[in-house]
Amino acid sequence: MPVQIIVGAQWGDEGKGKIVDHLSENVDIVARYQGGANAGHTVIIGSNQYVLHLIPSGIFHPNVICIIGNGVVVDPIALMDEIQQLQKLNIDIRGRLLISHNAHLIMPYHKLLDSMREQGSEKIGTTGRGIGPAYNDKFLRTGIRIVDLLDRSVFVKKLKRNIEEKNQLLKKIYGTNELDVDKIVDEYEAFDKKIDEYVTDTALYLNTAIANGKRILAEGAQGALLDVDHGTYPFVTSSNPTSGGACTGLGIPPTAITSVLGVVKAYSTRVGNGPFPTELVGEAGKLLREIGGEYGATTGRPRRCGWFDAVSVRYSAMINGIQNIAITKLDVLDVFDQIKICTGYQFDDKILKTFPTDVRSLESIVPMYETFEGWKSTTSNITSFSALPKNAQRYINAIAALTSTRVHLVSVGGRRDQTIFVD
Ligand code: GDP
Ligand code: IMO
Ligand code: MG
Repeated sequence: MPVQIIVGAQWGDEGKGKIVDHLSENVDIVARYQGGANAGHTVIIGSNQYVLHLIPSGIFHPNVICIIGNGVVVDPIALMDEIQQLQKLNIDIRGRLLISHNAHLIMPYHKLLDSMREQGSEKIGTTGRGIGPAYNDKFLRTGIRIVDLLDRSVFVKKLKRNIEEKNQLLKKIYGTNELDVDKIVDEYEAFDKKIDEYVTDTALYLNTAIANGKRILAEGAQGALLDVDHGTYPFVTSSNPTSGGACTGLGIPPTAITSVLGVVKAYSTRVGNGPFPTELVGEAGKLLREIGGEYGATTGRPRRCGWFDAVSVRYSAMINGIQNIAITKLDVLDVFDQIKICTGYQFDDKILKTFPTDVRSLESIVPMYETFEGWKSTTSNITSFSALPKNAQRYINAIAALTSTRVHLVSVGGRRDQTIFVD
């Protein structure tokens, strides 16, 4: 180690929560570096299922310190909800959860503006969690950070300035009611009292930990193809889920990063709008959705499903520096007679082997497939690579070869013990 980055290599929901929880057994710190409560990371322990939106997926390991980094946009309501749920489960987070004083806050107007913008015809299909508007304010340099809550006069001054501007937008462009400053001040002051004990300089904490040889996982949210710079813009999220985002989102240097693990689903899914070359709109897509339980962990929306796309994952591996991958949800493919992998894109009379990120090209390409025979047997209780059906081994090896990566883990179910280590 010291820092291993766990990144989603597709369009999110690859099973990062499960993999981070699994790997947390052998680390000291897990840190989220971007995104907000748009993320939904599922961890299953025994017969209990937990969905985390802001708190890192290492929280179920009592010795792991969990950090919400400066690159995350924090919704106080979602965070308090999550903290309370964990406390109800008797999970002790005191002294184990640290929140960056530099993280930006999601304000009520961010959520409102997110949903207003989505009412037009140019919908992104966002999660409605206020993510885009909050990052917008961050980069406009008008955002409100957690540290601002510590000084009431600073907070009120910044809030007033924001609300004046947002109220104009809400009234004149979207025709909605104006927001009340006092109500928001009261709400956020209550939040400040509750989170005060968790807030600290997490960049300093992490750099000290790195110097002391602590083992750290940087947990990405969303996926590389939703990255605002490298994804299928504009159908992306407003942050950098790619591995580069871990340095800026945590305040740690690139020299501290020792490896990048990409999490990939054994097929593809996408929630929301935007190009999806291997999408299956017929029966096969429905089957993947039903067997895979492909409904959003945050919004409950049905996920669009399709075959594994080696072209986009190869691109993702390049952008992120992914050496090793964890393949999840192999068991979902158990029932298929034949399984396909997209190995290239046909674009007019050319064959593309590289991923074009522009929407127009992606909408005009025709995926080229290699077909694999299914294994038609249950894999969910298999515990070693050599015990997997030969056709499943062939499929896994093909994914590795086509994406120029090594397979480190194969997941055959949502539970911790349904994880195969590949030597
Ligand atoms: P994340 O956002 O990347 O953490 O992924 P989500 O939690 O949104 O979605 C992954 C879903 O797949 C969750 O419901 C997990 O419990 C489930 N899951 C993870 N790994 C496996 C697996 O290997 N097999 C099956 N059947 N389900 C899995
Ligand atoms: P995890 O961490 C899948 C998608 C939304 C939408 C686009 C922009 O669970 O993998 P946003 O609300 O971020 O402005 O929406 O990004 N999206 C996700 N899709 N998994 C996620 O997170 C996502 N977070 C955002 O559906 O298409
Ligand atoms: Mg998810």
